[in-house]
Amino acid sequence: MKPLIVLTDPLFPKILKDELRGRARYRIVPFTKLLARDLSTADALVVLLTDRVDQRILKQAPHLKVLATYSVGVDHIDLKAAHQRKLPIVYTPRILTRSTAELALTLLLAAARRASEGEAICRKNRFKGIKPDFLLGKELKGRHAVLVGQGQIGKETAKLFRAVGLTTEFITRRDSSASIHAKLKRAQVLSLHTPLTPQTRHWLSATRISKLPSDAIVLNTSRGAVIDEKALIRALKRNRIFAAGLDVYENEPQIPRELRALSNVVLLPHLGSATEEARHEMARQLLRGVLAVLQKKRPWNLL
Ligand code: GLV
Repeated sequence: MKPLIVLTDPLFPKILKDELRGRARYRIVPFTKLLARDLSTADALVVLLTDRVDQRILKQAPHLKVLATYSVGVDHIDLKAAHQRKLPIVYTPRILTRSTAELALTLLLAAARRASEGEAICRKNRFKGIKPDFLLGKELKGRHAVLVGQGQIGKETAKLFRAVGLTTEFITRRDSSASIHAKLKRAQVLSLHTPLTPQTRHWLSATRISKLPSDAIVLNTSRGAVIDEKALIRALKRNRIFAAGLDVYENEPQIPRELRALSNVVLLPHLGSATEEARHEMARQLLRGVLAVLQKKRPWNLL
């Protein structure tokens, strides 16, 4: 009998059919409706980044040979439990690098030029004509950006930032606390590109925010909890920094009311990889990775 793949989302039905036809059986069950019965017979489980895969789920799936996540981030998976069980995990690195970097640039341009504020004025029909001091933003040329995390996405984002005239430097795990503070002091743009781990939770704390220059723009396309969201809201409320551009939130999909009420923040609904190019290829490569493991091969996108 062909192996059974349980997916919590249909991804793209045509891609799913094309990739799995004749190679595997599959069943689509939303994560919240997954039952022990579905898991007990699954050879592979394909989840989204919103599905929390913990010890309890893994225990219910004794025949699982591979776990796949439709994401590059893996903070929703109990890696220790998967590792103890020697369960291979496939994911979607590299494929979404460009899309996410382009979204970071979108947030930067929008935050620097107050695009959300301007758009809200137009939509509410409150545009009364231009004035010399109306909605002034910041020109980006010559500004200095500090990127936290020098992985694929951080490096690609830095490339795009340089293309619009910024200078760039990175903060990595090797930076001492003194070096981090020195870099934060010159970060007119601070862009976060680090995975969420116990070490990076609330990495951008109230203390670190207090080191930023007053014209700083904070960007987050990684995971919401890398920022102490309450501390960022306080800083934006007091105009301690110029603006923020956020694609991710501490308790997604909830966005705090206080944040939504602020005009100096651009808010997007976790769109980092949301391009046709990235999302389609993520589905293809993920399914190919799953099939490879089921055929006892080593896929390129094994965690
Ligand atoms: C998106 O946030 C991802 O991890 O793929």
